Amino acid sequence: MSAIGMDLNRFILEEERKYPKATGSLTIALTAITSAAKIIAAHVRMAGLADVLGATGLTNVQGEEVQKLDELSNRILVQHLSDSGQFYALASEEMEEPLYPEKGKNGKYVIAFDPLDGSSNIDVNVSIGTIFSIHKKVSGTIDDFLQEGEKQVAAGYIIYGSSTVLVYSTGNGVNGFTLDPSVGLFLLSHPDMNIPGRGKIYSINEGYYKRWDDSLRSKVDSFKERGYSLRYIGSMVSDVHRTLIKGGIFAYPADSKSPSGKLRLLYEASPMAYLVEHAGGKASNGVTDILKVKPEKLHQRVPVFLGSREDIEEMINHND
Ligand code: AHG
Ligand code: MN
Ligand code: MN
Repeated sequence: MSAIGMDLNRFILEEERKYPKATGSLTIALTAITSAAKIIAAHVRMAGLADVLGATGLTNVQGEEVQKLDELSNRILVQHLSDSGQFYALASEEMEEPLYPEKGKNGKYVIAFDPLDGSSNIDVNVSIGTIFSIHKKVSGTIDDFLQEGEKQVAAGYIIYGSSTVLVYSTGNGVNGFTLDPSVGLFLLSHPDMNIPGRGKIYSINEGYYKRWDDSLRSKVDSFKERGYSLRYIGSMVSDVHRTLIKGGIFAYPADSKSPSGKLRLLYEASPMAYLVEHAGGKASNGVTDILKVKPEKLHQRVPVFLGSREDIEEMINHND
């Protein structure tokens, strides 16, 4: 296991050295993500100040409109990922169609991302995040994005919380790095993350109880009867981060209003499922493992049940 405090760049390089055939392109790709994340983190820290500073004339000297944070985050990611030259195509929750960067013509990868997850929490100062999912380019068409989650080569998220933490996996364990703002480096803080086999928390928007089917209601009731605590932040990144560390269940199910749930397969469910499974947990859509679902379209939604293996097996009706 790597030493606590190791700088993320060195960690990525040491991971790469384990694969003699590696060309270094995934390393450059991941570095582009971490650079974008640091810049987004700096903007998140200033959230709410844009108008205040604008009113004092301290910002917007060029008379620029203050941008919404999710649009700004999208722009920052697009710029860094495109400039890296490693991505043949980019798909974002904030963009209708994929983008094919000029510099990425020879790129080996495609990336799907949610630039700012939990955006309804921005105005109330609650943790938000960025989620990403990387696949190999196989055909140079839209099908590159429609590969199963189990074929991801890397996935991760950045949580802009009381500190900024980046959690990622390339299929060989899950590791978390905390940004030291004084030096601008991500340092290894959560080596080899493993979800407890069972937790004590369930996390679901229980306000929708009336929209659920009977089976889901009775499953949630049974966790309550056994004294599980309810925690629901409403930012998937934050709810999943807690679940990775403390265990338990995070769910965004289908209901009578949203028959496929709300969360997006490519930008949210699939990368989080990859991390959870590589940390020893389980992620399902209620019928099958999320990583086995073959996407049919870019912005497809999917029900999500993920977390501690035993809790999830109890919650759903399949054990494959
Ligand atoms: P986004 O801000 O990227 O649109 O995602 C919001 C999502 C997700 O972060 C969270 O789990 C979910 O919305 C919460 O939805 P409800 O308010 O319906 O519970
Ligand atoms: Mn989201
Ligand atoms: Mn979003």
